[in-house]
Amino acid sequence: MEKEKKDVRLAVNVDHFATLRQARRSTEPDPVLVALLAEQAGASGIVTHLRGDRRHIQERDLRLLREIIKTKLNLEMAATEEMKKIALKIKPDVVSLVPERPEELTTEGGLDVRRQEKQLFQFVQLLKKAGIRVSIFVDAIEDQINACCQLGVDLIEINTGRYAELKPGRARDKALEAIKLAASLAEELGLEVHAGHGLDYHNVKPIVAIPQIEELSIGFAIVARSAVVGIDRAVRDMIQLLKRN
Ligand code: PXP
Repeated sequence: MEKEKKDVRLAVNVDHFATLRQARRSTEPDPVLVALLAEQAGASGIVTHLRGDRRHIQERDLRLLREIIKTKLNLEMAATEEMKKIALKIKPDVVSLVPERPEELTTEGGLDVRRQEKQLFQFVQLLKKAGIRVSIFVDAIEDQINACCQLGVDLIEINTGRYAELKPGRARDKALEAIKLAASLAEELGLEVHAGHGLDYHNVKPIVAIPQIEELSIGFAIVARSAVVGIDRAVRDMIQLLKRN
């Protein structure tokens, strides 16, 4: 009999509800309320990126999210002193280290772990000592995955951005192949494997088919769809696509 495969968990990134709120410096929509509704619809975790420029999520959001969400809070952040202090105070379940450039529209690529391994090592150890699981957002490159393992992180999030921006065809197949290889190497190295960036209702299935991937972090596509059909439906529809059986 064929073994029952586990479904991929969905972690919903609520940042762009805050983007909408901040467009008018308003109080709505509240990403905290959205996070609760996403959990009710079946999300396994909530992700949020507190940026240095505070363009969307504010510290108030983070504090409230920490208090009320029942699943898992994953704080994306740059490896800066400011963010270290905030993470140690808030104590999210997971910290995901990402590169950050003030002018960027969204995170542009994985962290260059090899280049900053010395600084990152201390950063990672400090967070781990505080009981926080540490993830690194990384490109599907063998040497970068090895570097993550050497840092002692608990998990990695493989950047699917390049795959997601390509139309179906040879180039996209190549990008997908690189993600498959990265996922299999990471599992061999004992890392939990997550992935994300740019995933939507149309391109997620080939990523779900990669057996090592346990969780996906998805934001924009869910926020955009929820503007039309509501957050409950947008989350449930994505969860359907993350099923493996
Ligand atoms: N993973 C990381 C590390 C990200 O920075 C983002 C964007 O905030 C996402 C996943 C989600 O990407 P998207 O909003 O394109 O689904």
